[in-house]
Amino acid sequence: MEISIVKAGPDQLKPKPADESNLGFGDIFTDHMFLMNYESAKGWFNPRVEPYSKISIEPAAMAIHYGQEIFEGLKAYHGDNGGISLFRPRDNYDRFNRSARRMCMPEVDIDLAITGTAELILLDREWIPKSPGTSLYIRPTMIATEPHLGVRPAKEYLFFVIIGPVGAYYKEGLNPVKIYVEDFYVRAARGGTGEAKTAGNYAASLFAAEEAKAKGFTQVLWLDAAEHKYVEEVGTMNMFFVIDDTVITSPLGGSVLAGITRDSAIQLVRDWGMKFEERALSIDEVISAAQDGRLKEAFGTGTAAVISPVGQITYKGKDHIVAGGKMGEISQRLYDEITAIQYGKKKDPHGWVIHID
Ligand code: COI
Repeated sequence: MEISIVKAGPDQLKPKPADESNLGFGDIFTDHMFLMNYESAKGWFNPRVEPYSKISIEPAAMAIHYGQEIFEGLKAYHGDNGGISLFRPRDNYDRFNRSARRMCMPEVDIDLAITGTAELILLDREWIPKSPGTSLYIRPTMIATEPHLGVRPAKEYLFFVIIGPVGAYYKEGLNPVKIYVEDFYVRAARGGTGEAKTAGNYAASLFAAEEAKAKGFTQVLWLDAAEHKYVEEVGTMNMFFVIDDTVITSPLGGSVLAGITRDSAIQLVRDWGMKFEERALSIDEVISAAQDGRLKEAFGTGTAAVISPVGQITYKGKDHIVAGGKMGEISQRLYDEITAIQYGKKKDPHGWVIHID
């Protein structure tokens, strides 16, 4: 399918951020976006790159009422050699299609989605920041647009990709964050939609996250919904714990998002010959390891945050300091290695980086 391109006129171009040290996350969007439409009788049609603008949908659009929405998060980088690359885009669009299946939404053609994303990025290439720690965040999204109020899968959808320059996700940057172990509210139950990247999972996380934030925490660590016993994820990141010399992360199990950065971290830890376990890890085991001094590190992984070290875990009113409240050695090594591969400073043995220019 041919992708049509309408470029923004001079009066539609927005000023680019002057200060790359202060980009934050998720507030700035470039001059264009990629869109396509779906109708069940026609399939996907009209793939196009257009000026970034408001979109118009009916108040009865089903996404608004019943939450048929999915999204992805991936990044583009200015390599040291001046080229532009994407990190594991096929894995993101594979996951997008898994989310689509779970939410009864149509899958996209991955090659077309990657081509449209790449054309959008190349058109807005001047927006890709160049300073260390910055990148271009890419947000593919699909919403149900059919105007209808009966509860069933919609027959019409809009797919769009918006992009924008970003810096660190957390205000802490690479400084360790404090996490609050949530033992009442739950994010996702087995058999639910926890492993789909769909808006409702994030909406479900807000109340507990706000309560935790008011107490001075950056993130909530979610436990399994059935027993409140096993650690799952923090909502914007997967979690890893280093107990003695073993790196441990929870299995996916249907309620945990299959993070691409999680998968990259697992691969690297294996490449380095470290002891690694993907297994159910109870919060009691984490806390007793922290008390005995055997919890060497804890960190989160995610596209937005990359690697985020955890300096404090609070459970049932007790604070447990991790790695002396500093970034641990493995967290730092993973951050350095993943970002070096992403920026093209190091060899990419797993073929994660796709050059688009
Ligand atoms: C990401 O890391 O890209 C995410 O999707 C997490 C978040 C900002 C929702």
